[in-house]
Amino acid sequence: MTNITPSKPIQDLLDRASGLDQKEGDTRLKAVVRDLLEQVFHIIERHDLTEDEVWGAVSFLGKGAEEYGLMMPGVGIEHFMDLVLDARDEEAGMGGGTPRTIEGPLYVEGAPLSEGSATMSDNEDEGERLIITGVVKNEAGDPLPGAVVDVWHADTRGFYSHFDPTEQNAPFNNRRKIRVGDDGRFEITTIMPSGYACPPGGSTDTLMTLLGRHAARPAHVHFFADAEGYRHLTTQINIADDPLVNDDFAFGTRDGLAPEITREDGVAKIRFDLELVSSTKGSGERSHRERLTA
Ligand SMILES: [Fe+2]
Repeated sequence: MTNITPSKPIQDLLDRASGLDQKEGDTRLKAVVRDLLEQVFHIIERHDLTEDEVWGAVSFLGKGAEEYGLMMPGVGIEHFMDLVLDARDEEAGMGGGTPRTIEGPLYVEGAPLSEGSATMSDNEDEGERLIITGVVKNEAGDPLPGAVVDVWHADTRGFYSHFDPTEQNAPFNNRRKIRVGDDGRFEITTIMPSGYACPPGGSTDTLMTLLGRHAARPAHVHFFADAEGYRHLTTQINIADDPLVNDDFAFGTRDGLAPEITREDGVAKIRFDLELVSSTKGSGERSHRERLTA
């Protein structure tokens, strides 16, 4: 194993490559790029990577670019980001509320808005009926009138509208926004979603196989919650009786996010309250990641 990265010529190379010897440019980005390159140099040396392995990695990552939204949760970066945000909130005295968890890559802006309750399904889907009820409230337990819950989930085959390879999902099937009334309540009538796996043979699936891992998620329902004067929340519930509920390839399951399911007359029922933290404790807005708008 060589170890030339700490030497002066290579440290100088890192400075020049990241623009540290230039007046122009973004100081913060330069620092990040320098650290990133230095880590890559270390990895090449530490693992004695061959030329073929380095160029193989570049072409793998290039092909995987279109799957970055699956790769990020799959390798744990999206979940790690949640843990970092939790730790920052904790340090700043802004902890509490319903736990955040990953958004995933399949949100679509522009779902229909309804008041108080919504039927999610536009497609005929022969699945188990599911009713999710809850209250959007603050840390004192008071309801938050006017809060908006934005909900999306897969169909019984594990496909989402706008991303369905079979094109059988109507636009915005299983996607709704609900504005809650004075009691803070929302009620969602829908069909139990199915879990899903990454596209077989795609970059994420290939990497997971090489790591000896699977590339599947348990069934789940995504939520955004927003209310005037409160920090944005991105979260999801995992379906508690899915066999993968505690083995999500995307690391999305967290304590408090796999609520109990009761069944009555063939209807599954879930109660899930969303507790938001006051923005007087510090602003918290939704990330500005790229999202599809339809
Ligand atoms: Fe999802």
